[in-house]
Amino acid sequence: MSGLLTVEGGTPLQGEITVRGAKNFVSKAMVASLLGEEASELRNVPQIRDVEVVANLLGLHGVLVEHDPQAGVISLDPRNVEAAHVADIDAYAGSSRIPILFCGPLLHRLGEAFIPDLGGCRIGDRPIDYHLNILRQFGAVVDKRVQGIHLSAPGGLRGTKIHLPYPSVGATEQTLLTAVRASGLTELSNAAIEPEIMDLIAVLQKMGAIISVDTDRTIRIEGVDRLDGFRHSALADRIEAGSWASAALATRGDVFVKGATQPEMMTFLNTFRKVGGAFDVREDGIRFWHPGGDLRSIVLETDVHPGFMTDWQQPLVVALTQANGLSIVHETVYENRFGFTDALRGMGATIQIYRECLGGLECRFGQRNFNHSAVISGPTPLRAADIEVPDLRGGFSHLIAALAAEGTSRVRGIDIINRGYENFMDKLEALGAKVSLAEAEGQVALV
Ligand code: EPU
Repeated sequence: MSGLLTVEGGTPLQGEITVRGAKNFVSKAMVASLLGEEASELRNVPQIRDVEVVANLLGLHGVLVEHDPQAGVISLDPRNVEAAHVADIDAYAGSSRIPILFCGPLLHRLGEAFIPDLGGCRIGDRPIDYHLNILRQFGAVVDKRVQGIHLSAPGGLRGTKIHLPYPSVGATEQTLLTAVRASGLTELSNAAIEPEIMDLIAVLQKMGAIISVDTDRTIRIEGVDRLDGFRHSALADRIEAGSWASAALATRGDVFVKGATQPEMMTFLNTFRKVGGAFDVREDGIRFWHPGGDLRSIVLETDVHPGFMTDWQQPLVVALTQANGLSIVHETVYENRFGFTDALRGMGATIQIYRECLGGLECRFGQRNFNHSAVISGPTPLRAADIEVPDLRGGFSHLIAALAAEGTSRVRGIDIINRGYENFMDKLEALGAKVSLAEAEGQVALV
């Protein structure tokens, strides 16, 4: 689906869609299976490109992967783990950052690991210094080579005390995936405690790990000699749910997101209500709608959990262009996550970006020349435009803007959206969006 999407905007999204397992959990649970001596089974797996990428990478390392995309079940048998060819890893990893999380499990299983240069969305520098420092602290030898990074653990991996400079999701996962089979005790302070991390801890506990989480962001892991497989159903994708909720709001629509769950979305729901959106939590999902009248401007700061997720920010900003007054959004997780607003300005939105920390506490990016605060003045009608998708969440936000705008927009590069939004074309159709996809060959497929 590397085509051009034509979007005839101005129609409220209405109907029901389903969200399945969280992209940012499923990929990690799949990596965790590498640590087991037995096969694992993961359910509620979405059909997204990141899952394919990790399945391929696991396959390259000798894991037997069986995937039933329709049923959302993936089974992973790691009994014959082996080293993969460098060129193959590079080819399959694509733009994913997941390979960095293979390091700990591969060091345990094979005594060495290799990772290529990492990709991921272009929303900041996205360094891997925390990851490499953590692995070194466990006793790994990190050797940077032309093709990527080679790691070995001549003396085995030993538990250690780690303090994160920032509660990084990936670095916390790195520590968990390495510590569970390292010898002795590991103490991780200033850890991330996102729901996806808690679900990963649940998976590791099912495999036989001993992990405790304190109220002060300290996680303690007692290393064990052996881990077995797991059977687990993934928690729902709260980013996807929040994205469709924002789409409902921006288009003055009404969307029931089947599968969305309240506990992981409480912060989002509070904000959604403050902006003037309505929601109804039901047993099997959450209905989000625009109740009519004006939306209200807000002051918002993104943060690590339990704060407002950075990944909810971009779709919500589109809805804020339709709110009455000045909204202020302070992005404190990524230094460069407002690039997508250029296209919104081109569509008629009034958004100014500032280097200063606006509307909240001073963050890591203050006084450092990072454009990480936005002031959005609304409401401004949006006009159709030609748009190029910049990254996953920014791309979905452009799509929302095109759906809310008057006229026909053309959105290029929508393939990126497949990384994290399952069957989004089918879902748009189910919600009554007027969209058509032109394939690369120039054929137009109506959906
Ligand atoms: N950071 C460093 N050094 C490191 C690692 C992180 O400086 O070695 C910094 C980052 O540059 C960033 C901050 O720490 O400023 C937080 O990054 P974190 O490590 O928490 O992010 P991540 O693990 O790379 C995951 C999700 C992101 C999500 C963030 C924050 C996955 C595959 N990705 O990234 O999801 O935004 O946590 O919640 O789990 C997305 O789904 O679109 C996405 C980008």
